[in-house]
Amino acid sequence: MAQEHVHANTQPAGEQLPQHVAIIMDGNGRWANRKNLPRYMGHREGVKAVHRIVEACLHHGIQALTLFAFSSENWRRPKTEVGLLMDLFVRTLRSEVQRLDRNGVRMRFIGERSAFDPKLRALMDSAEQQTAHNTAMTLVIAVNYGGRWDLAQAARRLAVRVASGELQPESIDSAVLGRELCSADLPEPDLFIRTGGEQRISNYLLWQLAYTELYFTDLLWPDFDAAAFQAALQSFAGRQRRFGQTGDQVEQSRRA
Ligand code: IPE
Ligand code: IPE
Ligand code: MG
Repeated sequence: MAQEHVHANTQPAGEQLPQHVAIIMDGNGRWANRKNLPRYMGHREGVKAVHRIVEACLHHGIQALTLFAFSSENWRRPKTEVGLLMDLFVRTLRSEVQRLDRNGVRMRFIGERSAFDPKLRALMDSAEQQTAHNTAMTLVIAVNYGGRWDLAQAARRLAVRVASGELQPESIDSAVLGRELCSADLPEPDLFIRTGGEQRISNYLLWQLAYTELYFTDLLWPDFDAAAFQAALQSFAGRQRRFGQTGDQVEQSRRA
């Protein structure tokens, strides 16, 4: 996947680069429709875009990439499409994990796994184990993931700790809750990208996106390439992140 210079950062000096990018890979079905192909072909082509973007992240030295591959709502699709997507996950994991591992990518899956076939669960577990020691970047795949599910499972875990007497209800604050969420050990996403033209969050990382810079593009996911990713990075580099402060305050602390 990535060639030499995997850590080379081609961003011009001084320009801010996201540490963590979160993407909603949308538009596979429409890509296929436009070419008079079955929707499934769009998903297959979408896997190639995943390759390109992982490679681009390695190239730029971006630490974490979270990709929305299947939402908790996507079960509502026709059974045949869901089945084909599951087959594609299995085949992609079988063919890609070695290469990702060689490139130093640590893999992680977030979402409710119990809904999946044992074969797929075993592949996810072994991919995580095999790549656990890698440090070039973390690739998080959100499957059967929903932001509301994430918050609900965090609340459930806190409730268990309160019930056992280990945790006092008064000590629950946003930091304590945040630590129970999936991917709590990663920095929050700096940049969110959604392809496919829709401008919505679709129950993605609801909590984690609180201060993320949002970027929407009409490009369909299978057409999203390194240049399109670069354009998103460029847009991010030009943003002033204020986190509630004034622009002047941010400028002052940047110069200090
Ligand atoms: C995103 O592409 C992939 C998944 C949700 C699995 P879509 O399949 O949603 O493509 P469109 O939005 O129908 O074009
Ligand atoms: C969001 O895309 C989920 C993934 C990309 C996996 P959808 O295509 O399912 O989103 P909606 O339903 O149009 O909002
Ligand atoms: Mg869609």
